Amino acid sequence: MRKNILCLVFSVCLLFVNNKLSAQQKTDAVTEAKITALLKKMTLEEKIGMIHGNSSFTSAGVKRLGIPELTMSDGPHGVRPEHGRGWDLLNKGNDSSTYLPTGITLASTWNPTLGYAFGSVLGSEAKYRGKDIILGPGINIMRTPLNGRNFEYMSEDPYLVSRMVVGYVKGVQSQGISACVKHFLANNQEIHRSGINVLMSERALHEIYMPGFKAAITEGGANAVMGAYNKFRGQYCTYNDYLVNKVLKGEWGFKGVLMSDWAAIHTTKDALLGGADLEMGTDLDMKGTKDYNKFFFGDAALAATKNGEIKESVIDDKVRRILRVMYKTHMFDKRTPGEYATKAHAEVAKKVAEEGIILLKNGDNTLPLKGVKSVAMIGANADRENAFGGGSSQIRPKYEVTALAGLRKLSAGNLAISYSQGYAITRGAKADDKMIQEAADAASKADMAIVVGGWTHGYDYNKWSDNAYDAEDADKPDMHMPFGQNELIKAVLKANKNTIVVLYGGGPIDVSQWVNDAKAIIQVGYPGQEGGTALAEILMGKINPSGKLTVSWPVKLEDSPAHKLGEYPGNGIDEHYNEGIYVGYRYFDTYNVKPQFAFGHGLSYTNFKYSNVSVAANHQAATVTFTLKNTGTVAGAEVAQVYVHDNHSSVKRPEKELKAFQKVFLKPGEAKTVTLKLNPDAFKYYSEDKMRWVLEPGKFEILVGSASDDIKLKKQITL
Ligand code: BGC
Repeated sequence: MRKNILCLVFSVCLLFVNNKLSAQQKTDAVTEAKITALLKKMTLEEKIGMIHGNSSFTSAGVKRLGIPELTMSDGPHGVRPEHGRGWDLLNKGNDSSTYLPTGITLASTWNPTLGYAFGSVLGSEAKYRGKDIILGPGINIMRTPLNGRNFEYMSEDPYLVSRMVVGYVKGVQSQGISACVKHFLANNQEIHRSGINVLMSERALHEIYMPGFKAAITEGGANAVMGAYNKFRGQYCTYNDYLVNKVLKGEWGFKGVLMSDWAAIHTTKDALLGGADLEMGTDLDMKGTKDYNKFFFGDAALAATKNGEIKESVIDDKVRRILRVMYKTHMFDKRTPGEYATKAHAEVAKKVAEEGIILLKNGDNTLPLKGVKSVAMIGANADRENAFGGGSSQIRPKYEVTALAGLRKLSAGNLAISYSQGYAITRGAKADDKMIQEAADAASKADMAIVVGGWTHGYDYNKWSDNAYDAEDADKPDMHMPFGQNELIKAVLKANKNTIVVLYGGGPIDVSQWVNDAKAIIQVGYPGQEGGTALAEILMGKINPSGKLTVSWPVKLEDSPAHKLGEYPGNGIDEHYNEGIYVGYRYFDTYNVKPQFAFGHGLSYTNFKYSNVSVAANHQAATVTFTLKNTGTVAGAEVAQVYVHDNHSSVKRPEKELKAFQKVFLKPGEAKTVTLKLNPDAFKYYSEDKMRWVLEPGKFEILVGSASDDIKLKKQITL
């Protein structure tokens, strides 16, 4: 033993003397040597203890060797309330954390710098609360508008997801805490999530479903990944040999921990060999009495290793990965202190909401409010807090500013605001004539009506397992708002033409019944604890909206590619993603189907002029330059988007694909030159014949615009 350790130290020293290693490589080599030394001291039982949960959110350490327990917590937009070691503390306590906007609103900012700030808040709060891994971000592609977890996810577009996820992961990990990117992969719906076998083309896998995860690992350096519940091509994702061993750990060089989603492992040997490193789950009887050694990676893994079915080196690799993450996140030395629910963190939450709220329509420049003395605010969502809803991402903030509270506070004294509930959020509730009448009466007496509706996290605030709409374990039944909200909006519009609609929730809604009549429409997503403040500031013109849609809004559900060309929700056994790469705007633009609101769409209170485009192409890459000017009278930010169109290709390609963007802040009258680089990847497609990315030389069109359906400048290049 002593001899071995001496050998190791000697070889590390040799490498140093060689002096060919970077500082990082030297640190890594020292860490690996320490891990090897630790592994040598551990019994098999101790190693097995580390690769499965020993409470609902921890896995065991080894006390005698000074290895701590590994502690994790949901979730993607705030540190979840404590569970204790079971679920005993969930609904008690004052462990309030910052409730950040959810993934859909974060991504709507199209601002990777905010992704970093957001991640830093999470990392800092997780650290304060003694967590080692934060179970986020969630980055599954929004394949169907119905997915109950779209609110946690970011976009239908892999490039946008990639840019936002890198900032987020780096932000979390800048605090010395691990991010855990989830759910790897194709967890694109909640119905049948635990067993459905997803079948898609290799091209869709590489072009649509993988890039976000790849960026999180290869650019963001994420320390942990969570496998999805579902199967992919017949094997569970968590131990899918192709996805985990070949791609994630092989091609992408992932050196961290692949943990299971909670109770997503169903067997021992295949899961150990298929690449899962850590089995997590809960004491399902909720009393803390479940024997965690009965997990598949507990006694059964011990026996399989003892009887030689599994080589000890397989277990060692998993423990090595866990120890590596522990070293990287300072679990053996002293961490810097974290901060918790501070003013500065609330400011980040507010900033993300300000930049993530999207102005979808602004007829007659109705917004910001001017000359309005009285407002009838209508709708249960106006007065509803959302933090605790939705499932595992629930948060218990110190406070949450609702739409109603936000407007009342900001307008103090200058606006008379009445409130009527308009609809009831209860199971099966239909349009309520009495409530609608009250709302219409209030609307008729006010200068303006603001209906605040949309999706909710479910019927019941505290229970999420039996909920529909934006909730884990459930999908939305269709794209129509529940509880008679369409009837309500139509009645209010009849009573007062000066009506605007504010929509909460995780994505597309069928607005066809009233979209032409509503003066203005705002999509807020789930904007976090300061959402009501940010919304009020936008309504009153204190903040100029700059969010853009990260997901296309179809006119009706049947227009959505997963529903038109693909299968959804599948038969519970197999689900074919027949739409392939034609997800979101890739479908709408290629198949000439007009969406209600296009990907990338979002209005401002000012106007932007695009001009002077030039593209310098060199061999396999290009640099796009153009001028963006704020031609209006207020300061604002525009998300300039660059799409690539391949003029001639040997395979069918989407009409356009997003390959670069930049959020540009401009004072009134100010112009800036925007320069964006398109690297060779921007022009490639994934060839199923060659099983690799291919850049076919020829002509490409570079499209610069304000949305996928609003291209302002074009330039052709030859590569
Ligand atoms: C969810 C994960 C979550 C885990 C732990 C699962 O049900 O799918 O996203 O991190 O629970 O709460």
